[in-house]
Amino acid sequence: MALPAAAQSREPTALVDQQHCMFCHTSDAPFLAPSFRQIAERYRGKPEAAAMLEQKLRVGGRAHWGDIAMPLPAERGGPLTADDAHVLVQWVLSQ
Ligand code: HEC
Repeated sequence: MALPAAAQSREPTALVDQQHCMFCHTSDAPFLAPSFRQIAERYRGKPEAAAMLEQKLRVGGRAHWGDIAMPLPAERGGPLTADDAHVLVQWVLSQ
């Protein structure tokens, strides 16, 4: 069976649960944080954004949406490897 070419990246569910991403984000409605769809819109067509976001997920950084920065991995459920950050960012940007 052929896979649809533009399929959304599959949700890395274990990682998303472990890091509690959905505690603050939803995929399509802004809640405590911008929705993943808003984030994907904002960075679409910006190839350098993925590396910046991976870095930000791992070590934090300046807030880009408001005054509240995202909590660090240690406060979200545990350390995040570079590979895991990559998987998460690719998934967010595919929404
Ligand atoms: C405790 C709440 C909370 C949790 C948990 C959380 N986030 Fe966030 N996230 C935020 C807030 C608040 C912002 C907006 C920060 C800003 O202004 O840059 C944000 C922003 C982001 C951004 C955009 C950053 C930017 O610079 O534009 C990405 C990507 C993101 N989150 C992904 C994730 C992923 C993936 C997870 C799970 C690993 C996660 N978030 C877990 C609250 C949260």
